[in-house]
Amino acid sequence: MDHFNYHKGWLAAEDVSIKTLAEEIGTPFYCYSTATLVRHYRVFAEGFKEIPTQICYALKANSNIAVIKTLANEGAGADCVSEGEVMRALKAGVDPKKIVFSGVGKSRGEMAFALKKKIGQFNVESREELKMLSEVAASLSVTANIAIRVNPDVDAHTNDKITTGRKTDKFGIGWEEVKETYADAKRYGSLNVVGVSTHIGSQITDLAPFEAAFKRVVGLVEELRTEGYAIKRLDLGGGLGIPYHHTKIPPSPADYARLITTLVKPLQVELIVEPGRVLCGNAGILVSRVILVKRTPHRTFAVIDAGMNDLIRPTLYSAHHDIVPVEEVLNKKVFEKMDVVGPVCETGDVFARDRELPQLKEGDLIAFRSAGAYGAVMAGTYNTRLLVPEVMVNGEKHAVIRARESYKQLLAHDKVPGWLS
Ligand code: LLP
Repeated sequence: MDHFNYHKGWLAAEDVSIKTLAEEIGTPFYCYSTATLVRHYRVFAEGFKEIPTQICYALKANSNIAVIKTLANEGAGADCVSEGEVMRALKAGVDPKKIVFSGVGKSRGEMAFALKKKIGQFNVESREELKMLSEVAASLSVTANIAIRVNPDVDAHTNDKITTGRKTDKFGIGWEEVKETYADAKRYGSLNVVGVSTHIGSQITDLAPFEAAFKRVVGLVEELRTEGYAIKRLDLGGGLGIPYHHTKIPPSPADYARLITTLVKPLQVELIVEPGRVLCGNAGILVSRVILVKRTPHRTFAVIDAGMNDLIRPTLYSAHHDIVPVEEVLNKKVFEKMDVVGPVCETGDVFARDRELPQLKEGDLIAFRSAGAYGAVMAGTYNTRLLVPEVMVNGEKHAVIRARESYKQLLAHDKVPGWLS
């Protein structure tokens, strides 16, 4: 599934030793594998070959420009949710026509920016936004291609914080208002209605909610067409889960694509899909070093030099990431149960509780697997910790694709007002 394997006793990313990278770059750092990214893209794309499909990679999962460019070189477009993400996509060389702009809160400034860049499609999430977009487009004397993002009121049965398709969620236009919204879109100027879009959540590990939502949306396309709307595109969002843990294996990209192909092929639409995690999740690891192992009468804590500011998923979503030692475990190794924690001053700065791991000591390297999506992008500088760097490997080559910021750079963002000096 990925290209992180042990070689001569040490974990390697493709042909590059993680130990060597750690010595060169320092820890913590994220490391991505080009071969894994490309393989995941190709496997995913292969599933959709029976229908004209544009894969718009959801940049929010990992928006490093090198990652975007790797996928863009394979043909990916981009699903963006901010002006900054549109900038990143363009900088990575994504064709503007392959960019879709999603999100519940696009400002007028962001709309204008994206219109000037001639992006392919806006996914409009409210009647209010529709009106704003029409006004902004009119003021620039351009036409915006739009899809209305509908909320199918289907629970994706994933983590509550990343479930988006229930009627009480902030996303999309409620089913009861969809028809009026299309009528609005027809009435307003400067809008070209091209399609319907939806997205029901992330890390979805069952096909049933996808099927329920997509059936509703396919029915909607048929209805809209009979009412005279020329619906030529259907954007089904992202959300396919990845295996973080061996006990919960999500449907394969092939099964997911088969479901979509069966439902969508008769419509003869151009399909857009917005995968994020499934493309880059397993293509990245977070490498960290053990600062010390604290043994108390109650627990054993492996305190590592990565914190919740570097990988927030465990504390934010109670997410599981497999943790592996960078030095291959040999037969005689003693295992013990421990809590793996970061140095941040919060009780919640915990990556794993009661995790059985080979006995660790100061200086040992460990790696969090499946950290390529929603890892580095969600990192911050809480506790005045430096933003974590990123490295990309390609065969025997590697490159730092985001350098570790220095303390000088970090502190320079703060300005002391004149009255304090
Ligand atoms: N399209 C839209 C409109 C989205 O909102 C998202 C994700 C995607 C596509 C891509 O979903 P994916 O294929 O990656 O599941 N930070 C959370 C995940 C947030 C997902 C937000 N939206 C996590 O770490 O699990």
